[in-house]
Amino acid sequence: MSVHMTASSSPNLFDSAGCVQPTYQATDPDTRLYLGDCRDVLSRLPERGSVDLIFADPPFNWDVQYGEWNDDMPREEYESFTREWLDGCIEALAPHGSLWVNIPDDSAAEIVLHLKSRGLTMVNWCIWHFRFGQCRQTAFITSKVHALYFCKDPANRTWNPDEILELSDRASVYGDPRTMAKETNKGMRVPMDVWYGKYWGRIQGNNKERRHNHQNQIPEVYLERVIRACSNEGDLVLDPFAGSGTTCTVARTLDRRSICIEYSSTIAESAWERIERIGMVRRDGVKGTSSAIVSPRRPRVGKKTAEDS
Ligand SMILES: C[S@@+](CC[C@H](N)C(=O)[O-])C[C@H]1O[C@@H](n2cnc3c(N)ncnc32)[C@H](O)[C@@H]1O
Repeated sequence: MSVHMTASSSPNLFDSAGCVQPTYQATDPDTRLYLGDCRDVLSRLPERGSVDLIFADPPFNWDVQYGEWNDDMPREEYESFTREWLDGCIEALAPHGSLWVNIPDDSAAEIVLHLKSRGLTMVNWCIWHFRFGQCRQTAFITSKVHALYFCKDPANRTWNPDEILELSDRASVYGDPRTMAKETNKGMRVPMDVWYGKYWGRIQGNNKERRHNHQNQIPEVYLERVIRACSNEGDLVLDPFAGSGTTCTVARTLDRRSICIEYSSTIAESAWERIERIGMVRRDGVKGTSSAIVSPRRPRVGKKTAEDS
């Protein structure tokens, strides 16, 4: 039977002084996994108010098996759970911090409204587009999740565009000499707000990133883009819903300090093995590659390119 426990139900989380204690930890860089309800952990975290980057991929309330967690709450209860963990994240975040939420269509609007009502600013509403959505006849096949990028202070946030550049269509498709004549970042651009391409598919089948017995694992390239863009080496990254541990795995490989929280003990054990012993498997990444969806055009000497017109 799946049991949903309430916000005050993470019994082994606190020591006698009421401080929150990690279940797993490692050094160089400091990496911690807390076992419990993220609402409890966030409210007692020593780093409250100083986390540089939060990435949250919550349960979607789609009745998925996540160990002891009940992923099939009445809608009102799910919405109030959502507001509670969002508020916990806002309190944990530093004034210059960024908050990303990975969420499907049915809850994106509620989350956007709540974060705006709490004074956060939306920087981007990105889309993670994947092929191989669940087949169905009754409506269009879902092939995206929303990647909502919020911050507390748009004028004072960590943003590293040079860390995430990709080859532009101008360079890779049209062979436009003007982009190669630029002073810096020749042929490169900041990625668009729809994310797809090599290594961006859902993690399933014999994908080499796949961790068995984990649901809804996010691709490493997705976290690599978020972490490189919105944090620096040594910064503190937090994920309130660890799952297979993708966020801490990538953060640790990229020399960030990190904290993740997981409700289920079996999921946490497997996540920690990945974070500490396995690490990122896509070290070649996608940095600097092209996401163009058409083949390169043969350059036509003296003629305008399609992008010029
Ligand atoms: C969608 S999965 C996260 C997947 C993760 N992004 C990955 O790449 O593997 C959500 C996870 O949150 C955990 N979870 C659900 N409710 C929680 C809560 N209140 N506190 C902490 N973890 C929770 C679930 O057990 C599940 O492992």
